[in-house]
Amino acid sequence: MSDQVNAPVAVIVLAAGAGTRMKSAKPKIMHEIAGRSMVVHALHAAAALEPKNLVAVVRHQRDLVAAHILDHFPQLTIADQDEVPGTGRAVQQGLQAVDGYPEGTVVVTYGDVPLLTSEVLKDLVAVHEAQGNAVTVLTTELDDPTGYGRILRDAQGDVTAIREQKDATAEELAVKEINSGIYAFDAAMLTSALQEVTTENAQGEMYLTDVLAIARNRGGRVATAQISDRWQIEGANDRVQVQRLGQVLNERLCEHWMRQGVTIIDPSSTWIDTTVVLSQDVTIKPGTQLHGNTMIGTGAVIGPDTTLTNVVVGQNATIKRTDATDSRIGEGATVGPFTYLRPGTELGSDGKIGAFYETKNVSIGRGSKLSHLGYAGDAEIGEYTNIGCGNITANYDGVKKHRTKIGSHVRTSSNTVFVAPVEIGDGAYTGAGAVVRKNVPAGALALSVAPQRNSEGWTLAKRPGSASADAAFKAALDTSDIE
Ligand code: UD1
Ligand code: CA
Repeated sequence: MSDQVNAPVAVIVLAAGAGTRMKSAKPKIMHEIAGRSMVVHALHAAAALEPKNLVAVVRHQRDLVAAHILDHFPQLTIADQDEVPGTGRAVQQGLQAVDGYPEGTVVVTYGDVPLLTSEVLKDLVAVHEAQGNAVTVLTTELDDPTGYGRILRDAQGDVTAIREQKDATAEELAVKEINSGIYAFDAAMLTSALQEVTTENAQGEMYLTDVLAIARNRGGRVATAQISDRWQIEGANDRVQVQRLGQVLNERLCEHWMRQGVTIIDPSSTWIDTTVVLSQDVTIKPGTQLHGNTMIGTGAVIGPDTTLTNVVVGQNATIKRTDATDSRIGEGATVGPFTYLRPGTELGSDGKIGAFYETKNVSIGRGSKLSHLGYAGDAEIGEYTNIGCGNITANYDGVKKHRTKIGSHVRTSSNTVFVAPVEIGDGAYTGAGAVVRKNVPAGALALSVAPQRNSEGWTLAKRPGSASADAAFKAALDTSDIE
């Protein structure tokens, strides 16, 4: 509806609950979906309203939760809830943490509702302010409203109260319109109404929901804003719900990217973090996970069976069956299959890191190829160099790591070992099986393996009667002139 709404005086995110049904040492709201904790998802939606005060109310595992929240939102105000239980108490203490006497609109949301978007919050504030309401509550109709607070209305259809499941009559329990727990309040009304809220109810808690009836009794306008997308107001209480929310969010992210011009062959086996950025005409094959600050350029083909974490991929690059972290892949480069790129791998444009390779902390220049079976770590490789099959940088002497520097247009033969620290000049070659312990000047051929000596007739003399000796005898007959 509206992009521009007035900044609320406060958005209060409730995050004090214990989350016991998670059965986890980790606080519930710190469990992640799409690469972000649930509370950080909730706070991003809240922060998009640009409130004068962004407040999180904490209690359970307070220090852990507060540190996590402040790590992502350093400007946020942490409010501690005391031993008085209930959402009403939580909001009251959230308000007390705001400097001065808040006036204007206060929005309340939950830290365990991760799919709520800022658009829905903006619409809620817009409706609330346009109608001049004392309270506007976000509601939806559920076929099975069990557990939720029910929206009670009078004969005119005006909201009179919210009744909690445990306090409701049979008639009230039949109501299908439920309280999402997300509201816009007039700040002054909220502050004074909360002073009247008691713990006299089935759960012995201060219910925030009691504020609605209080506001109405004082002549304030209490209204609803409806939402049909129930996932946006769905909270997570156990791991089954966390998984479902994660799956729905992932479906939404995949759909978003497909509409932006990304081909995703199998969204059900593709997992994309909220923080990932994809370009037009990227193709993602099945079994691919894109995490963290991964960015993929136009025309790149990723997967199948590839996990990228904080990897920047250039245009038209191809990465298949690869696990890569904190790396950069240049335009038109190819990686995989069965390739493990550890942090600090930088592959230049049109370069190649092929099958069964492990790399770490290595920069590889434009057009250079490490095609098969090897390890490259703590190394720098120039441009258009070809590293042969099975090459190894021996970078670790058991105590310290050392660097290998290989120039441009170098050709190394199979099974070369670079014993670091060592440098190979531009245009140099190495022989098969070379163990390179000394620097190789530009243009030199490095051989370290002793010249080959063939001891003729050795098998017949030393292994008489063996199958090898028989074969050697037969071969000798076949090549002799004797008939
Ligand atoms: C609450 C609402 C209910 C609504 C439902 C929607 C009340 C009294 N009831 O019920 O009408 O349908 O949410 O999910 O508000 N929290 C605190 N401090 C507390 C208690 C809760 O911060 O003392 C936080 C929790 O961490 C959670 C949120 O508030 O994020 C909701 O708490 P929860 O106990 O799940 O409320 P419900 O009983 O489900
Ligand atoms: Ca709940």
